Amino acid sequence: MRKTFCKIGLWAWMGLMASSVAAQQRVDVEKDLLYCHRQVERALAGLKHDGGWDYTQMPRNILAADLEAGRQEWNCRPAVPEEWCGGFWPGILWYDYEYSGEAYIGRQARNYTASLGFLADRDPYDHDLGFLVYCSYGNGMRIEPDAAYRDVIVGTARQLAKLFNPLVGTILSWPREVERYGWPHNTIMDNMINLEMLFWASRNGGGQDLYDIAVRHAETTMKHHFRPDGSCYHVAVYDTLTGDFIKGVTHQGYADGSMWARGQSWAIYGYTMVYRETHDRRFLDFAQKVTDIYLKRLPERSDDYVPLWDFDDPSPTAPKDASAACVVASALLELSGYVDAEKGRTYREAAENMLASLSKSYQSGDRCVSFLLHSTGHHPAGNEIDAAIIYADYYYYEALLRLRRLQQGRPVLGNG
Ligand code: GLY
Repeated sequence: MRKTFCKIGLWAWMGLMASSVAAQQRVDVEKDLLYCHRQVERALAGLKHDGGWDYTQMPRNILAADLEAGRQEWNCRPAVPEEWCGGFWPGILWYDYEYSGEAYIGRQARNYTASLGFLADRDPYDHDLGFLVYCSYGNGMRIEPDAAYRDVIVGTARQLAKLFNPLVGTILSWPREVERYGWPHNTIMDNMINLEMLFWASRNGGGQDLYDIAVRHAETTMKHHFRPDGSCYHVAVYDTLTGDFIKGVTHQGYADGSMWARGQSWAIYGYTMVYRETHDRRFLDFAQKVTDIYLKRLPERSDDYVPLWDFDDPSPTAPKDASAACVVASALLELSGYVDAEKGRTYREAAENMLASLSKSYQSGDRCVSFLLHSTGHHPAGNEIDAAIIYADYYYYEALLRLRRLQQGRPVLGNG
């Protein structure tokens, strides 16, 4: 009996290994990393004007209309607190420097990064400070440790902490929407990503309270921001007087009750990271729960591991969101190392299938300088639909570097 069980177990294990290897073979990591490097070089050439670069202008998107008009270069936005995507381009340059080791890329990474340092010295505009400063300075600090970088990260984390409301137990994401929408204390799922900077800053001289804020935010969000099946609202609205949860609504999704793909991707990435930082089993269980609903629902509306922009948009022409797939792929490569072996294989295989699909069918190639096409930014507002968007490229590069690390037999513990 025991022998039979072992035999079946062995066959099952071999089957899983075979499918995992098959998935691995379909992602040619070295080829894809070289592709990203070449696209970065092209992009930098296109960003050069009058013999130099304006380091305060950050690549943001290349729209479908741009491609139709034959435009290949990034549309840029200034490095200001209102532009939440400013940290992704410096982050991509740091990843590219990590990959290529080219001094010229390292210089570009440092120069673009420097344009965001002012955020440490001013009151927060909103919660996006982690995206802005941890993707840029955080990667810079990891690759080339520098006391001045540490000071910027810690200073910015202290600014972000000003938005924490202890009565509610979360960070206020959008001060500007309090009046406009009547959302007294609003927290969006994306905010989970900003916690990574708080954890790092707390470990590096920023104070225990930054750790406590991050954990409390994750706990409160876990309690209120999700439906029983593990899918999330985009926005949770809380009462500032009682601290009570009022309602869950959407801002960038299809409907209040729908599963906006990128929102769910932030939840998967966020709880994986919070588990890494805390080793608290509750967060690991929750990371799996929010992942499993995403993976369960993926085949319903996707034939290629890349979700529709919202899982519940019934339109037959609903666009995809490659950026969500990039975020999830990167997160699952990390999460696969924290769970039991069988689940780990499932998550890694899912991540590799996503990356294989992105590499095969979503790369921009000669059409423009981004790595990928077909992301969706803000569908309800009609913004960045079926576009190249800078954060898709950031998480794609990150996922490829993580996969390479796993293939080399090294663990993925964040990017460190
Ligand atoms: N953080 C905004 C978004 O994911 O579009």
